[in-house]
Amino acid sequence: MCGISAYIGYRDAYPIVINGLKRLEYRGYDSSGVMIYDGEKMHLSKTKGKVSDLEKITDAEEERKVGKIGMGHTRWATHGVPNDVNSHPHYSQSGELVIVHNGIIENYDTIKKELISRGYIFKSDTDTEVLVNLIEEVKKTEGCKLGKAVQLALTNVVGAYAITVFDKNRPNEIVVARLGSPIAIGVGQGNKEFFVASDASPFLEYTKNAIYLEDEEMAVIKLDKGIKVFKINDDSKVEPTIQKLQMSLDQIEKGGFDHFMLKEIHEQPKAITDTFRGRMLVEENMIKMSSIDDNLDKFLNANRIIIIACGTSWHAGLVGEYLFEDMARIPVEVEYASEFRYRNPIITNKDVVIAISQSGETADTLAAIKLAKSKGAFVYGVCNVVGSSIARETHSGAYTHAGPEIGVASTKAFTTQITVLTLIALKLGKANGSLADHTFKDYLKKMQLIPRQVEKLLKIDEHVKSIAAVYKDATNCLYLGRGFNFPVALEGALKLKEISYIHAEGYPAAEMKHGPIALIDENMPIFVIATNRGHYEKVVSNIQEIKSRAGKIIAVVTEGDTQVREIADHVIEVPDTEEALTPLLTTIPLQLLSYHIAVMLGKNVDQPRNLAKSVTVE
Ligand code: F6R
Repeated sequence: MCGISAYIGYRDAYPIVINGLKRLEYRGYDSSGVMIYDGEKMHLSKTKGKVSDLEKITDAEEERKVGKIGMGHTRWATHGVPNDVNSHPHYSQSGELVIVHNGIIENYDTIKKELISRGYIFKSDTDTEVLVNLIEEVKKTEGCKLGKAVQLALTNVVGAYAITVFDKNRPNEIVVARLGSPIAIGVGQGNKEFFVASDASPFLEYTKNAIYLEDEEMAVIKLDKGIKVFKINDDSKVEPTIQKLQMSLDQIEKGGFDHFMLKEIHEQPKAITDTFRGRMLVEENMIKMSSIDDNLDKFLNANRIIIIACGTSWHAGLVGEYLFEDMARIPVEVEYASEFRYRNPIITNKDVVIAISQSGETADTLAAIKLAKSKGAFVYGVCNVVGSSIARETHSGAYTHAGPEIGVASTKAFTTQITVLTLIALKLGKANGSLADHTFKDYLKKMQLIPRQVEKLLKIDEHVKSIAAVYKDATNCLYLGRGFNFPVALEGALKLKEISYIHAEGYPAAEMKHGPIALIDENMPIFVIATNRGHYEKVVSNIQEIKSRAGKIIAVVTEGDTQVREIADHVIEVPDTEEALTPLLTTIPLQLLSYHIAVMLGKNVDQPRNLAKSVTVE
């Protein structure tokens, strides 16, 4: 987490850095800061709060904005509470070096004690101030330049980092380094300007040429001379690859919607279509995915598939479990990456691991992948962000092609992850004979209808909004579903709690009587997914049980349903499809419901408190 944005070149650095930080606020937004070097002096402004709070400070003193070199930071606190002092950038003790950092220095306490014994005094509680002083100390004792000092200092550091460092004695260069946290370098024309950022969004309008540093690499960026990339550990030179960015500016703007989350909910018909594109060939009755074809024997001979992910992506993984087992009859386990990596799991070279991640940067998922690889498993990634760490770390994989997801609450990433998993499950089911040809064909036809059905569902927004108005003041909610829609219930509850801060729990509907039923009274809204083919009669019985305890029922049902309509307080209809495909539809009204409740409660929908979009710390 945390976002870094920096510039060195011939333009005014301030607007580039600040606008960059605004685009990176999804990575953390509890404090922010900016340093601008005017050719003589460094001007540092920082504050608890968002980038808009920072602007109030810089607007008050225009000279803070003047200069062609700058670096900024938007923070998600790890060490030290969010306050002005702990905000980045941080100066070194002499005030000559300045740093922004994303990550965690795990051995900072030992280093700090050593530096204190050498006379360093610390102003903040951060590990970052320790790092910049360590660099300063190395520079002093070794008598070396900034790049060498950064390199030597980093060899003493345990943890994760993406850093940008500037030394006012060397005003033509900045030094960047990465281990475990992403860093992109935008390369302007003729080595006349460079951009550094946690992802490429801050420099999209200036250059489409980007270098993504790999783990354990650092770069010394010099005006007029260009970029030199080295391995931190052995100093060996690396030839940087310049990638052409495919992202466009309008993809990362709100496009007339009040919030990114709403825009992204509405983008789902297109996002799902983009996920299908070139893969689902209905006429030919086939699914074309070279990443699966090239590794088909691994999937078909796998003892089991282990799906690893976190949060919403983990919920998509749970849907994946139902899909793979139902369609391809391959045993599946779904694991939280954070548990998997630390519980000494049994993994063999007959296991296929599927790692799911929107950002492709989630620290726990990345570590779980490395563990699985070290045990000989074949690791397949399902990522949204092209070129992300997870996309690069996995043996093979498929992109979801959802486009940039900026709202912190994941929406289109979830449905496109399910789409990719459905395509893989269908493909494997066909390949190993678990799915009859006509069943496969039927699924393709139904899949093809999904984007239009989602579009239709989005039109009932006003109806969903009216239900949101009734329940916006609830303090607890239950979400129930069975089979394919049990993970949708979990996801519905997560969406509500993360953006509206209303406590919500998702449960398999039948589990209700093993505990949560005790919570039910006339104040408890219960959202039940009751589509017509998924254990429908059983779910209807569960709804009766709620009704007889005076709970309020909001049911998501299939179009034309009459039975549930008679007992539920409200119904939301979704178009008819195969039960295995319903998560792609039932999710939509639950997303809209959470969105409207959060808006009605006046919450910050796109940047809910304490959260960050890309969780690069464990
Ligand atoms: C919730 C949400 C998170 C992420 C989780 C994993 O709306 O977005 O729960 O799903 O942090 O992130 P990725 O998918 O980037 O690995």
